[in-house]
Amino acid sequence: LFIGVDLGTSAVKLLLMDETGKIEKIVSKEYPLYFPHPGWSEQKPEDWFAQTAEGIKELVSECDRSEVKGISFGGQMHGLVALDEADNVIRPAILWNDGRTGKQTDYLNNVIGKDKLSRYTANIAFAGFTAPKILWMKENEPENFARIAKIMLPKDYLAYMLSGSFCTEYSDASGMLLLDVEHKCWSKEMIEICGIRKEQLPKLYESWEPVGCLKPEIAGELGLPEDVKVIAGAGDNAAAAVGTATVGDGACNISLGTSGTLFISSNKFGVDEHNALHSFDHADGHYHLMGCMLSAASCNKWWMDDILKTKAYQEEQEGVTKLGENHVYYLPYLMGERSPHNDPDARAAFIGMTMDTTREEMTQAVLEGVTFGLRDSLEVARSLGVNPERTKICGGGAKSPLWRKIVANVMNMKVDIIESEEGPGYGAAILAAVGCGVFPSVEEAAKKLVKVVATEEPEPELAAKYEERYQKFKKFYPLLKGNF
Ligand code: XUL
Repeated sequence: LFIGVDLGTSAVKLLLMDETGKIEKIVSKEYPLYFPHPGWSEQKPEDWFAQTAEGIKELVSECDRSEVKGISFGGQMHGLVALDEADNVIRPAILWNDGRTGKQTDYLNNVIGKDKLSRYTANIAFAGFTAPKILWMKENEPENFARIAKIMLPKDYLAYMLSGSFCTEYSDASGMLLLDVEHKCWSKEMIEICGIRKEQLPKLYESWEPVGCLKPEIAGELGLPEDVKVIAGAGDNAAAAVGTATVGDGACNISLGTSGTLFISSNKFGVDEHNALHSFDHADGHYHLMGCMLSAASCNKWWMDDILKTKAYQEEQEGVTKLGENHVYYLPYLMGERSPHNDPDARAAFIGMTMDTTREEMTQAVLEGVTFGLRDSLEVARSLGVNPERTKICGGGAKSPLWRKIVANVMNMKVDIIESEEGPGYGAAILAAVGCGVFPSVEEAAKKLVKVVATEEPEPELAAKYEERYQKFKKFYPLLKGNF
């Protein structure tokens, strides 16, 4: 048995998978998310670990625990976790969707320069990336900065607590703006620019490599054998790609989670010369391009929970009837936007309402607005000659048949629906199985285990209507930019 941990922003989701890929059990544990200032976003690493440990205990409560062989992770990316000499967490983690580093991001992109950043790391600076947060801490919390002994990413904190190994792996490290993505090593130049030392950074592994075993006291507390292997894991998007078999050249996955991502796997290293798409290492040992929206299913959650004050997501969506004909538009920038605009100050908006606009049209506009935002990233990929004709889909939003249909038609792509939408957790369990020697490679394991159960085909007439709508949507952000 293998444990896959998906350390998300709203909850940690854990699943137990057997050697044939069957999911035996799923457990989910929530923790708070703090917005101490508008545009800031933090969580407590201690909460992550406490809930993960609780989750593991519940997950294995009914199985033969001696059968558990490995555990691995898919984790929310880019978060800055800083520990002192005594392994205390210095301050709450600054998350991937935190927009406080506008000044540091400008410094990196415009004073150091995008060309240099791109040469050192294959990417430019985005507010959510880790390096600008290190600079923010240095400038705004010098006492905290001076205490840093270890810098790590969210899921690496779990691996450290479980195994004592100070480790990370290439897919997640790619999002720090400290890794030379092409050559898979820390960038000396970036380390210097951030004013840190290499010893403060974790050891690098491939996603499927074991980093150690459970510490004896932790194994005792969790009721698991001490020889359970801890496998490095991956950033949640790379893990989701493994969990949806988005491996090999040109495969595509769309994730509709708190964030929204378009992930295109590639066997060759490549950089988006417009710097709108991230160029990162993949968990299968190769590379990928990715566009990331900061608010995807979270837009729908905000609209349903906070504004309409309903939990009946499905009933609400059953009222949506005007596919391709909605005159209401929604800009999905509740937390600013990463891809492709790189604008932490962007804000959400509804546009085009009339006296007879209905709640259903606004619900529809939210789903469409997020999908148009993903289409923006697809357009960048297409301009680079990367033109996938089908995609997998995962994340909470992928449970909605309506949203899947909107995706297929807005993107004009076939959408392959897989057995389970537990992308990152399932991918993490697959990585654990590969790390324990059950499969020879991540690619083989993913292709063998992941099953497509249905395909949503775009309908030419509807796709044409959405094409027109998208061309309008595209014009709104440039008009509003700078005026939010
Ligand atoms: C990717 C990104 C998000 C988080 C969500 O660059 O920031 O998708 O990983 O957990």
